Amino acid sequence: MQKVAIIIGHAGRGSNMLALADRIAPDSELEIACVVTPKADSTGALAATERGLPLRVVPYKDADDYGERLGKAVEDADWVCLAGYMKLLPEAVLKLHPGRVLNIHPALLPKFGGKGMYGHFVHEAVVAAGEIETGCTVHFVTEEYDEGQIILQSRCPVTPNDTAETVASKVLALEHETYYLALKQVSHGKI
Ligand code: GRF
Repeated sequence: MQKVAIIIGHAGRGSNMLALADRIAPDSELEIACVVTPKADSTGALAATERGLPLRVVPYKDADDYGERLGKAVEDADWVCLAGYMKLLPEAVLKLHPGRVLNIHPALLPKFGGKGMYGHFVHEAVVAAGEIETGCTVHFVTEEYDEGQIILQSRCPVTPNDTAETVASKVLALEHETYYLALKQVSHGKI
């Protein structure tokens, strides 16, 4: 059984976390070790508790030992999945889990990635650029934003009638399927 820790962000809805939890629950090869949140009362954290997932709260403040505390919270995991975590991951966590930290990004990297490219900014940029397709990317996490090796991408069309909002909802549905598939690939050593 390989253990998965999911780190969500302070403002996260937690929909990718829940989608992973739904798919991991019947999977005999994976289990959720914990959901880590900076804020115990965020939407995502409350949803994790309601779902009966073990919640570990690691506040952002006291920045000096933040990396160490976050590392400790996910120390028992084989895989760490970022889901709505918007900050750069502290080096301490990457050192503890080299090549075992994944992130999902709501665009087809390397397009529409990097600092400041998150949430609605991504989808607005996709529509403004007149893209005819977009999608999501699961990739390994490095010390730079959205730069690690790509594990899996899923695509959907962007039509002239699409707005940033309609693109966001199409991409989110893709994310919910793609994250689990990517996790299965890496956990089987396929990447
Ligand atoms: C997702 O769009 C994901 O691609 C990005 O952050 C968002 C998190 O959404 N990294 P949710 O909290 O999982 O609903």
